[in-house]
Amino acid sequence: MTYEPPAIYGIIGHPLTHSLSPLMHNAAFKSLQVNAVYKLFPLGGDQELKLFMEDLREEGNPIFGLNVTVPYKEKILPFLDAVDPFAAKAGAVNTIVITHQRKMRGFNTDGPGFLSHLSELGFDPKGKRIAILGAGGTARAILSVLCLINDRPAGIKLYNRTVDHAQKLAAQLGQNMDASLVEVVHSPEDLNVELADCLINTTSVGLKGEDKLLIDPDAVHPDMLVYDVIYNPPQTALLKAAKSKGAQISNGLGMLYYQGILAFKHWAGVDIDGKCKAIMRKALQEGLKNES
Ligand code: ATR
Repeated sequence: MTYEPPAIYGIIGHPLTHSLSPLMHNAAFKSLQVNAVYKLFPLGGDQELKLFMEDLREEGNPIFGLNVTVPYKEKILPFLDAVDPFAAKAGAVNTIVITHQRKMRGFNTDGPGFLSHLSELGFDPKGKRIAILGAGGTARAILSVLCLINDRPAGIKLYNRTVDHAQKLAAQLGQNMDASLVEVVHSPEDLNVELADCLINTTSVGLKGEDKLLIDPDAVHPDMLVYDVIYNPPQTALLKAAKSKGAQISNGLGMLYYQGILAFKHWAGVDIDGKCKAIMRKALQEGLKNES
């Protein structure tokens, strides 16, 4: 019997210490009996990114697929040979497929992953009023997908601590898509959460227990979905407050799961069967339990 070295997959970013992606993807490789392993590739800066991307071009490099996370989702674009239309419009890539010829194609599965999770939650964004907190990478993916779907929301209000970041993001997206439904507001009160059908927190506020709420919880009402992309802790102060007001709540573990499923599909070239999907979701849930 000859030894076949495993194909390597992984995630590049910084920091990566809390990434749950290896658990999910390694569980899938094991379940499908694929000779592959998913690793963490922490890259400390732009120079390290450049060298890593140059190495990927070398014949014989065993890496055939990558996820990309903070702070490289936008910086990665110039290193790729091709970028899928949605990722190009969003201006961010979180998944790379690498061929045996060492050609690299970028995709964004964060936006579609978020949409899949919304659908699982029974929330149809068509005609709805959406309020979004934050203007970083996650907000970029969510805004892009909401602007690009056929059945779009009625309007999206966007608030960010640094208003200029929100304005720049909206302007940038406006160059690639019709982002006229996005209105940048200057204070959390102007999000009009009391009139919103869905509030989405994409900021890191809530990661720490002592973090103060960015919005007035009294504005939350029972006829809305409050979605926090944070999944550790599983219930942020925002979600707890929203639950006490009778709103439907969700953390972002489902978004992480669906973006992973879609990334795996790009690498494998085929959809994963239901049994394997269930194993991936369980791996995520157990990984989260062990972290907290
Ligand atoms: P991600 O890729 O997860 O979206 P990011 O791109 O670093 O991460 O974005 C972080 C978001 O959280 C930003 O909108 C940031 O606001 P600024 O643009 O003002 O930096 C927001 N954020 C981080 N800490 C915050 C805080 N203490 N209060 C309010 N917003 C905060």
